[in-house]
Amino acid sequence: MSKKKKLVEPLLHDIYIESLSHEGRGVARVNGKTVFVDGALPGESVSINYLRRKSKFDEAEMVSVNNPSADRVEAKCKYHQLCGGCSLQHINNESQILHKQNVVLEQFTHIGQTSPIEILPPLTGEIWGYRNKARLGVRYVNKKAKVLVGFREKKKPSFIADIDECLVLHASIGQRITELKKLMEQLSINSKIPQLEVAIGENESALVIRHLKEFTQEDMGIMEKFSANTGIRLYLQAGDIDSITTLDGKKHSSLHYNIPEADITIWFSPMDFTQVNPQINQLMVRQVLKYLSLDSKDNVLDLFCGLGNFTLPIAQEAGYVMGVEGSLSQVKRAMENARENKISNVEFKCADLYSDTGHQDMNIQGYNKLLLDPPRSGAKEIINSLDLGDIEKIVYVSCNPATLARDAGILVNEQGFKFNQFGVIDMFPHTAHVESVSIFSR
Ligand SMILES: C[S@@+](CC[C@H](N)C(=O)[O-])C[C@H]1O[C@@H](n2cnc3c(N)ncnc32)[C@H](O)[C@@H]1O
Repeated sequence: MSKKKKLVEPLLHDIYIESLSHEGRGVARVNGKTVFVDGALPGESVSINYLRRKSKFDEAEMVSVNNPSADRVEAKCKYHQLCGGCSLQHINNESQILHKQNVVLEQFTHIGQTSPIEILPPLTGEIWGYRNKARLGVRYVNKKAKVLVGFREKKKPSFIADIDECLVLHASIGQRITELKKLMEQLSINSKIPQLEVAIGENESALVIRHLKEFTQEDMGIMEKFSANTGIRLYLQAGDIDSITTLDGKKHSSLHYNIPEADITIWFSPMDFTQVNPQINQLMVRQVLKYLSLDSKDNVLDLFCGLGNFTLPIAQEAGYVMGVEGSLSQVKRAMENARENKISNVEFKCADLYSDTGHQDMNIQGYNKLLLDPPRSGAKEIINSLDLGDIEKIVYVSCNPATLARDAGILVNEQGFKFNQFGVIDMFPHTAHVESVSIFSR
């Protein structure tokens, strides 16, 4: 059987990079066609190697640069080219955050036909070792006779990157990737372990090991030893989220983080939603409180409230706050968090905020302030179906510029809100993820 020969294209030289795409690739035009060039920056003239040809655009990687941009820095991580975890490490941090700010402002104009009156200074913090939440892939590779633990490869996302450390992950895990690989290699069912969930609290670091086959007694002993040596608490997940247990078979949520500003401790279980970057989370909570400008007459609705990350600090300043969240286990934990922190002017409710029934049950009359912190799909359903007549102020925390821009457009152009402030938040340095906060008022 004859093997199809792969077309090898010559390098193209002196390609001028016009701009930066949302996810951080250089954008050039070659013979009238758009080419996204991985690793290239605006203003640079580069040599490129085509990776993929598509009907509407092509994809290439930068091979060399003639005139490096002033924004270019040496990537600190040696796996930067290989690993898909970060895509902006070759850009200095100030320019990364400015790029993200521009991405959102452009989306406001194009998608939402609106723009903020004031742009707030970005919230920034530590740019290495910040990441307290992650899902790491595990793959037994027959050819290499070893187990890989890491993020997906940048160019071949079906592959797991062969890395020994990760500089953005919290050091308790990021500096132990080699040890994790060794641990996985020792386990008899390592080909039946697809992933590890990382969750770091202030009291301890945890890993949830998803496994598709039962561990042997010997495996259990190996994991117990690893846990004792490293101080990392291991959880096992044989099925859905409810199946998670600690190594000794107990179910409990022992992780916690603090919000010192409000003197609040939030307890969580390793699969719960928590903000990825704890230092930035504290700044973000402070900013949200500042712009909600609360007093005891305020009745606040906190939609997509998770474990009460904003709800509980809000309760300390407002008259009353209701947190609504789709995950029942998180709602239960949020209630426990309220009890543990002795906060009583708060209630939590479980509802699917994207379904009609979720909205029908919700009476929002009497609430004068609204906090929205939705997942990537945004809050259009809520904005369109709830009567926001009594709402004087909305603070909207977003992790997706496109849905934020769409929702901002609805609030301003259809619901008569004023778009007062917008600011980016450096929650995920070196990655293309964009977190931001927007403030609307009547
Ligand atoms: C971006 S997180 C924000 C959580 C919280 N505000 C915080 O700061 O930790 C979004 C939350 O929305 C919840 N969620 C996802 N889909 C939902 C739905 N259909 N209805 C209600 N909540 C949902 C998730 O469980 C998650 O807790």
